[in-house]
Parts: sequence; structure tokens; C-alpha cells
Amino acid sequence: MSSDFAFVIHPIEPKKHVGRRYPLLGRVLTEPMIDFFCQYWPPVKVSRVESARSQDTGENLNGWLVAAPYTPKMMLNLPVEQVYNKLVATGRLAERMGARILGLGALAAVVGDAGVTVAERLDIPVTTGDSYTVTIVTDAIEQAGRQMGIDLRDATVAIVGATGAIGGASAQILAAKTGQLVLIGRREKAVERIREKCEGGSAKLITSTDLHSMHTADLILSVTSSIAPIIEPEHLKPGAVVCDVAVPKDVSRRVLNQRKDVLVIEGGIVAVPGPVDFHFNFGCPPGYAYACLAETMALAMEGRFEDYTVGRFLNIDQVREITEIAARHGFKLGKLTSFNREVTAAQIAEVRERAEVNLRTWGPATT
Ligand SMILES: NC(=O)c1ccc[n+]([C@@H]2O[C@H](COP(=O)([O-])OP(=O)(O)OC[C@H]3O[C@@H](n4cnc5c(N)ncnc54)[C@H](OP(=O)(O)O)[C@@H]3O)[C@@H](O)[C@H]2O)c1
Repeated sequence: MSSDFAFVIHPIEPKKHVGRRYPLLGRVLTEPMIDFFCQYWPPVKVSRVESARSQDTGENLNGWLVAAPYTPKMMLNLPVEQVYNKLVATGRLAERMGARILGLGALAAVVGDAGVTVAERLDIPVTTGDSYTVTIVTDAIEQAGRQMGIDLRDATVAIVGATGAIGGASAQILAAKTGQLVLIGRREKAVERIREKCEGGSAKLITSTDLHSMHTADLILSVTSSIAPIIEPEHLKPGAVVCDVAVPKDVSRRVLNQRKDVLVIEGGIVAVPGPVDFHFNFGCPPGYAYACLAETMALAMEGRFEDYTVGRFLNIDQVREITEIAARHGFKLGKLTSFNREVTAAQIAEVRERAEVNLRTWGPATT
């Protein structure tokens, strides 16, 4: 069967993944044991992607999901050469299956030089999908804000992970659209460099290395590659919207349990054109995919079989170009989801009501 593209996924919640496929092993193996065995596991075909259809050409697109069996911890903590070797082996599997372009999902796109070395070592081109992700997540936060009664133009927006590929490019786009932009990163000099790139827009720019600086933000875009959650209930103002783009997630489950007065949405969820079937559950509603996968599919529909988004510094012109390509083929911002459930009007109304009450007693951040 022909294959236009392949997309690399990897286990995000290792115990859950193993348990789904091998229930007994899922119960007895600890996470360190799973990490150990994963080192020796070869890349695997996960599922066939069928029947995405370009609204521009009417042609069907088929592809494969392939897995590099490394957990988030392994992706970021093993020697980078070992991870490159596993990703290249996964890419070789995709090549043998006939793929003409390879997308890198989740931390496969983050490790080392963000796709540059993997692209150099493979015969097929590579993309991380980060360019289209920037458009989708900045649109998603604007739309979620609108539903919560927050106008982006007057809002304070915080970007957590502003020094990263998606964070830095999103900052440049949002700096032209919002009232105040709080750039949060771990390294002062790197955050300062992003601030310089954002100058000249409508936003007043603030930089910080303290997560508590998001405390006054109306809208928060969280895009770190942390392997554990970093946003906790005490960081958030009543009525805030958090768009959690990170895979694995940045927002702690404590927020879901304790803060019924904030709205947390998943970032980067895209409606794919055509009766697409991934034969795999990403946690998105049927017919929806992450923006990084959507970028890979849109490039394949366009016949752009070339390295596209690779490396940690995104090009804003390329962000605009892939946005136009994806829109022409029929990709669009998907339904807003929160902890993998569709956001309803009733939920928004409840969050707004609770926020209004809690704002009366809300005070400055305590560190
Ligand atoms: N939803 C989607 O469609 C989609 C698409 C693509 C990517 N993603 C996800 O988006 C996230 C970011 O991707 P990216 O390509 O922009 O990654 P990146 O370029 O590596 O940037 C990661 C950012 O996270 C920061 N960071 C890392 N660990 C942290 C920690 N423990 N605490 C606070 N900040 C931390 C980094 O800070 P330093 O600069 O100091 O290292 C950097 O600012 C990843 O989780 C990825 O899986 C999602």
C-alpha cells in the first residue's frame, strides 16, 4: 500500500501504554523497568492513517504512525547519540514502508538539535511540525479567551517556555496582538533575547524566570518540554485560560481538581480534512490530530517533500506559509478540549461564575 508520510510517536505515559497492550506486564513492571526494557525494543509500526482528503485537490492521503519506544525521560536523559540512533532507525522503518516525509512528534521533535541531525541522516525529509503548531496554539488561545470574555487586545498573556521553538515564535506573533506579554523562561539572557525579537508590537513586554509571574495573566500559553507538570493551582488567577501545548502536559492534575475557576485547554488540536481514520487514539476527538502531525500531512498533500521545520529557531515567514498551505487543504483549528474532553458552553459559564466570586478575594502571588 502506498504511503505518503509517516509520523513518529513515542510512549508518554509508559505504564499506561504497556498496560493497554500487555495488561499483566503493565501491572508488574515499574517505570524504571519499562525504561530499561525500552532501550532494547525496536521501532514499531503503530497504525495505518487512511482517508485524509485534501479539500484543494480532492486527493486522499495515506500514511503511517510509527513509534520510537522511548519514554519522555529516556528521550531527554539518555545520551543524545543514542536517541538520534533510535529516531533514525524509526525513520528507516518509515522509509522501508514508502513514506516520503517524516514528522517528529512530542519529545522526538525536541531532543538535541530538534530534527536537524535526524534529517541529515535520513534519505526522506523531516519536519517537527512546530511551525503550524504556532499558528494553531495562538489561534486557540485567542478563541478560548473570546469564549471566556477576554479580549486578546487588552489581555495580559504569559508564555511559559518562551525560549523554546514554539514559545519564541508564538511570542513574536502575540506581541503584535496583545496588551501585555509576560515572557517566562529558565535562563535570563535567553528570555531577554526573545524580548528583543518581540519589540515593536502592541504589547508591553515583561521578562521573568519565575513561574509565579503568570499570576496576573488572563491567558497563558504553556510550551515547555518539562517531563513533569510545572503549573500548579497557586500559579493561576481566577478566570485565567491556560493553553497547555506541552506533551507530556505542563499543567498538574491538581489544577483540574482544585481550580474550577480556570479553563485549561489542550493546545494544538486540528480538524483534519476528509473522513480520516488514524486507527489510533491520541486522546483527541475522532477526525482531529495534533498540529505537528497536521503539518506533516499538509506538506505531503502539497507535495512539499523537503525538510521543513527543523532546528530550534522558527522562521515566521515559514509559519505563515504552512498556515496558508494547511488552510487551503482544509485543516482548521479543532474543537477546544480540556483534559481530553470537549469544552461545553455550560462549562465555560460555570468557570466564569466561580471566577467572578473568587476574584473578590484573590490576592498577590505568594512565593
Ligand atoms: N500539541 C502539539 O501539537 C505540539 C506540537 C509540537 C510540540 N508540542 C510540545 O510542545 C512542547 C515544546 O516543544 P518545543 O519544540 O517548543 O520545545 P523546545 O524548543 O525544546 O522548548 C522547550 C522549552 O521548555 C523549557 N523547559 C524545558 N524544561 C523545563 C522545565 N523543567 N521547567 C521550565 N521550562 C522548561 C525550555 O527552556 P530552556 O530554553 O531553558 O531549555 C524551553 O523554553 C513539547 O512538550 C512538545 O512535545 C506539542
